[in-house]
Amino acid sequence: MFLQSSFMGILLVIIVTFFIRTCDGQLAFRFYAQTCPNAESVVLSVVQDAIARDPTVAAALLRLHFHDCFVEGCDGSILIDNGLTSEKRASPHQGLRGFEEIEKAKAELESACPGVVSCADIVALAARDAVALANGPGYQVLTGRRDGRVSNIELAAAMPDVNDSIQLLKAKFLEKGLTEKDLVLLSAAHTIGTTACFFMNKRLHNFFPNVEGVSSDPSINPTFLPGLEARCPKDGDVNVRLAMDSGSEQLFDINILQNIRNGFAVLASDARLNDDETTKSVIDSYFSLPSPLSAQAFEVDFADSIVKMGRIGVKTGFQGEIRRVCSSFN
Ligand code: HEM
Repeated sequence: MFLQSSFMGILLVIIVTFFIRTCDGQLAFRFYAQTCPNAESVVLSVVQDAIARDPTVAAALLRLHFHDCFVEGCDGSILIDNGLTSEKRASPHQGLRGFEEIEKAKAELESACPGVVSCADIVALAARDAVALANGPGYQVLTGRRDGRVSNIELAAAMPDVNDSIQLLKAKFLEKGLTEKDLVLLSAAHTIGTTACFFMNKRLHNFFPNVEGVSSDPSINPTFLPGLEARCPKDGDVNVRLAMDSGSEQLFDINILQNIRNGFAVLASDARLNDDETTKSVIDSYFSLPSPLSAQAFEVDFADSIVKMGRIGVKTGFQGEIRRVCSSFN
């Protein structure tokens, strides 16, 4: 009798725990295992096809995840197209790409399991697959995010700006629960992809607006500066693009941190990481190890940071919705 009642008690605890876990809005690994078992493989195959056609899509998908998470949390709000007031139209989001790939994965998932897989999860999974396909670390993505119901052009103030001071960059990350170490590791996402000259203007041509004769950021290695200036001349075409990790812009590797250390950072925000004692010591820590170990440590830490980023402000449980189409609310 006693055994029977304690068994019932344990069973009750298990059921309640399971119920709370699934209904209180926790993210989980393989959240769709029962409801849409092929969810992750569908996303992977869409991302694989897209990258096979255009390898630059990997960087686009990784950046999209960051921009989604920093405004209103990782809730797919960046995907909404509700005209001139859409969040995606805010200036910090300029140049974002990868929307078609997300929409394609969504369409396939809607026909396989309608109303189940959120756009926010597709963005997070696509970023993970993009990193792996660019030779970066594999990591597990927690899923179960729900899609947000707000998209507003006014809500981009939380986005870090390329010309922010290191203090402001740290503060913007801290506000999202991300540390100085996360700031370094997540900025290292610039190991893949390109920037438009538009974002280089201040750093190359107007770094000291009030000082006669000095126009560029002095932290740029003097051997690197002429190449940058030639590619992005003053009053030149702001749409010209240049690799942010010179020498390996399609390969996810630790080279970006070495470049930042040596004055070969392209973006001003990346260069600022080497000016500050704390962030510089994070960068340096990877180079105190023998080379295969430093690359390994970097990849493990990047994975930790991006999983953490993927939890920012998520909507779960009964919050938000599961959109039918990623670019519009239901
Ligand atoms: C620290 C603050 C950050 C700033 C100020 C910043 C700024 C920028 C800028 C200005 C560009 C060039 C955009 C363009 O011309 O299309 C860019 C590209 C990119 N960013 Fe960041 N970023 C930051 C953090 C991150 C984070 C956290 C990630 C991802 C985890 C990320 C991933 C990327 C990628 C992959 C690209 C290349 C996009 C492409 O080639 O289309 N960035 N970023």
